[in-house]
Amino acid sequence: MSAFSVIFKYLSLTGSFATIGILLAMGFLLLDSEGMLSTQAQKLRRLLWAFALIWSLGSFGTIIFTLATILDQPVSGALDPTVLRSFITQITLGQYLLFQSITGLVIAALAFRLQRVLSTLSLLLLALLGLVAPVFQSHAASSGSHGLAIGSLVIHIVALSLWVGGIIAIALLDPKDRPIAVPRFNQLALWALIAVVASGSVNAWVRLDFKGGWNTTYAYVVIAKIVLTLILIAIGYLHRVNVAKQDLINWRGFSRLVSVEALIMGITVLMGAWLSSIQPPERPVPSKFDPAIAISGISTPPAPTLSRILFSFEPDALMIGILVTAVALYIKGVLVLTRRGDKWPIGRTVAFALGISAIDFATSGGLGLYAHFSFSYHMIAHMILGMIAPIGIVLGAPITLALRTLPQARDNNERGVRGTVLALLHSKIAMFYTNPIVALALFDGSLFALYFTDLFGSMMQSHTGHLFMNIHFLLSGLLFFHVIIGIDPNPRRIPHLVRIVVVFAAMSIHAFFSVALMSSTTLIDRGYFGSLQVPWLKDLLADQQLGGSIGWAMGEIPILLALVATFISWVKDDSREAKRIDRNVARAAAMGQPDDLAAYNKYLQDLAERDRNRP
Ligand code: HEM
Repeated sequence: MSAFSVIFKYLSLTGSFATIGILLAMGFLLLDSEGMLSTQAQKLRRLLWAFALIWSLGSFGTIIFTLATILDQPVSGALDPTVLRSFITQITLGQYLLFQSITGLVIAALAFRLQRVLSTLSLLLLALLGLVAPVFQSHAASSGSHGLAIGSLVIHIVALSLWVGGIIAIALLDPKDRPIAVPRFNQLALWALIAVVASGSVNAWVRLDFKGGWNTTYAYVVIAKIVLTLILIAIGYLHRVNVAKQDLINWRGFSRLVSVEALIMGITVLMGAWLSSIQPPERPVPSKFDPAIAISGISTPPAPTLSRILFSFEPDALMIGILVTAVALYIKGVLVLTRRGDKWPIGRTVAFALGISAIDFATSGGLGLYAHFSFSYHMIAHMILGMIAPIGIVLGAPITLALRTLPQARDNNERGVRGTVLALLHSKIAMFYTNPIVALALFDGSLFALYFTDLFGSMMQSHTGHLFMNIHFLLSGLLFFHVIIGIDPNPRRIPHLVRIVVVFAAMSIHAFFSVALMSSTTLIDRGYFGSLQVPWLKDLLADQQLGGSIGWAMGEIPILLALVATFISWVKDDSREAKRIDRNVARAAAMGQPDDLAAYNKYLQDLAERDRNRP
């Protein structure tokens, strides 16, 4: 049975990688034609359909075999409709696997309708979500160090899907289209390869870093994978050397090398599928039972002190991966500008760096650690993620930097990466989200939806819930401060008066929320903090009320700063407008043209004179 489960997992993995690689080729590697898919890209739709179906089938098979393994019964037991239905509707792992299988079906159903680059990229995003969903409930989620184990595995398979999927797509491309797609893929492949090696190593280290861990089948498979990865790195290097020759590229040699590479990759993916079906070696059980490890995957830290908050570290690999990618892209953008001789204000870079550091502190630093154990620390982390870090990021103007440095179109017809970002900025979705009412509803409305329903308690129970909550705080804060004080281009012009009204509304709603929390006499966490049995936290209600007052105190200051900034920008805009009018008048006078304002005044004077002279 275990061989079949590996085969289905392998089908699901290769199907998903190929699906993602083909979507990548259609939406990013091949030329587009003013935002529409080119004929070459459209030719790939049949392959997309076939691989998405293989993916869906592989995932469905994985559902059956996973259920059979959990029940410890033959496959017929897992095919019982009642048992199967309850697995895919009530158990999170079953739900996530079903979501993955349906994602494959949806992509297959839409494959032949794809016309635009933007819809292709949206399907790519959906495919990535479908790919990673089950990882949040795989055995990575049951090992210790959840943040490292789950996060690194998510990064591992996302990077793999882009790298392996990209190679599959290049191998299936018409050789005539390779010269345009390969150079762009080469750049992406290098980043993906670095991410695969780093995340795979972190994951292996989490599973094996204890006495006896390295002397198991699991460890031998990991070592075999490392050897195969080294061979793949050598092949990647040969590709880069070949492609660097530009006009003298040996395309026949390239095809042969790609076939060998795809074969070795296929074997490595098979080993990965096998690895994920083997139980990792058991960790030694700690002598004293710690409920926090069972519930949150983290052992209870000692009572918080300033130095512990400042210097503790509980890495959330996924967040770190996202932040490192954002910083790398920002640095690359600034370097491109500097090499071109253009200037980028240092203040923007500093603001961006401060924003990123604040996010890291609130998710992987001491604050992120204690936020798992006490409501008041959770609230400080929330305020930093939703109110303080976004101000730094927004003032770093990352969209402006991207628009100034992203690759331009590769031919006259192409919209290209920069053009696609611009189209996205002017899309209906962007218009909807940058409506100040929508931004305010997401920013402040979600406080009530989260804390005054059962949602907060259930999200704290799982690593996935906690992660999504953090991402939501951050994104809604980014959107709100972008609309109010953003210097990046906005699809709609929002008058200063409207901004000020929105900021006042945000302040009042925030104050109302905090007071409600401070005066609440029941716990809102559905027993989460109590179940951790933290020895240094005896009065949970007082801690929750403290959280309410911290939320008030910390939340009002950034909003107030945003208000002041909006006033200043309003005044500056007015004086800029007055100067612009003066400049136009002076320019007109210098060119001997009539001064519009003076002419209009004269016209009024003439009218008054005529009235006076009338009998
Ligand atoms: C330094 C090199 C690498 C190391 C240390 C490494 C390590 C790991 C580890 C520890 C896992 C987790 C398995 C589990 O769930 O218990 C994993 C999963 C996996 N790896 Fe790697 N890996 C490396 C490179 C690669 C490469 C080059 C490929 C393919 C070309 C690959 C394909 C996979 C696949 C398909 C999975 C299964 C993902 C899933 O569970 O859905 N790995 N790897």
